[in-house]
Amino acid sequence: MAKFSGKVVVVTGAGSGMGRSYALEFARCGSKLALMDFDGKGLEETVRLVKASTSADILHRVFDVSNREAMFGFADEVLQHYGTVDMVINNAGVAGLGQPGWDTPIESYERVMNINFYGVLYGTKAFLPELMRKNSGHIVNVSSIFGLVGAPSHTDYSASKFAVRGFTEALMVELCNTKVGVHLVHPGGIATNIAKAGDGEAFKKFNDNYLTTSPDEIAQVVRKSLEFGVVKIVYGNDSFKTWLGSNFVPLKWLNRLVWADMKKTLDLGSYTKAGVR
Ligand SMILES: NC(=O)c1ccc[n+]([C@@H]2O[C@H](COP(=O)([O-])OP(=O)(O)OC[C@H]3O[C@@H](n4cnc5c(N)ncnc54)[C@H](O)[C@@H]3O)[C@@H](O)[C@H]2O)c1
Repeated sequence: MAKFSGKVVVVTGAGSGMGRSYALEFARCGSKLALMDFDGKGLEETVRLVKASTSADILHRVFDVSNREAMFGFADEVLQHYGTVDMVINNAGVAGLGQPGWDTPIESYERVMNINFYGVLYGTKAFLPELMRKNSGHIVNVSSIFGLVGAPSHTDYSASKFAVRGFTEALMVELCNTKVGVHLVHPGGIATNIAKAGDGEAFKKFNDNYLTTSPDEIAQVVRKSLEFGVVKIVYGNDSFKTWLGSNFVPLKWLNRLVWADMKKTLDLGSYTKAGVR
C-alpha cells in the first residue's frame, strides 16, 4: 500500500461503480486524488465517501471524457494543482445498445467509441508526457472481458473494448524498456450501474446473471496487481474462463461456446426475426 502513498492518482468515471471503488482504494493508500465524471451528483457522492473515511486531497471536475479539449484542460489543471501526476486510471465507460449488429445504428457505434475508446485515448495522451518526462508512473486502461472475446448483442461495446486493448497493448510494447507502466484491466461481471440504464428484460437478465463481483473487490485486486507490476489484469465473474477460451479455444468453437453461454440473457426475438436462429 505504501507504494502509492503521496502519489497523484487520476480516476475517470469516478462517480459510480469501479471508478468510485478505485478512488476509495487509493485514498486509503494515502494517494492524492484527481477525479472526474460527467455525472456531477455521483461524483459529489464519491467525494463525500472519500472524505468520510480518509483525509485524502481531492480535486474533482465534471466533464465528458469524449471532450478532447476538456480532458487536456483537466490534465493542465491537475499538473498545476499537484505539480505532477503518477497514475491515470482511464475507467469511464458506457454499455452499448444491447442489440445485434444488424439492428445497431452507426450512431450507437460512434457514441460508444467516443466514450469508451476516445475517452481512454485522450486520458492517456493528456497525461503521458508528464509520466514520460519523469520516467515513472502508470497508465491503467479499462477494457473488458468483451475485449477478449466478441459478445452477441455487444458489437458496439466489444468494438470499443478491443480498440482499448489494441491501443494499450501497442503502447505497452513501445514503453516496455522504460519505467512507465502501461496496464490493461479486463473486468468480468462486476455489480455496478453500467447495465442498469439499458431498457428491457435482456439488460435485467444480463445484470442478474453476470454482474456479481463487488467493485471494491476488483479495485483491491487491481491495486495489488499494480504493486506487483502485472500488465494485464483479468478479474471478476466469468473472467477466468473467458481468458482461457480466448487464449486456447479455436475461434470457431469459442463463438459457439460464447453463444451457448450468453443466449439466456439475449433478446432472441431480433435473432429469430432476422432468420439466424
Ligand atoms: N460492470 C462490469 O461488469 C464491467 C465489465 C467490464 C468492463 N467494465 C468497464 O468498467 C468501467 C467502469 O464501469 P462500471 O461498471 O463501474 O460502470 P458505472 O456505470 O457504475 O460507472 C461508470 C462511470 O463512468 C461515468 N461515465 C460514463 N460516460 C462518461 C463520459 N462520457 N464522461 C465522463 N464520465 C462518464 C458514469 O457517469 C459512471 O459514473 C467501464 O469502462 C466499463 O465499460 C465494466
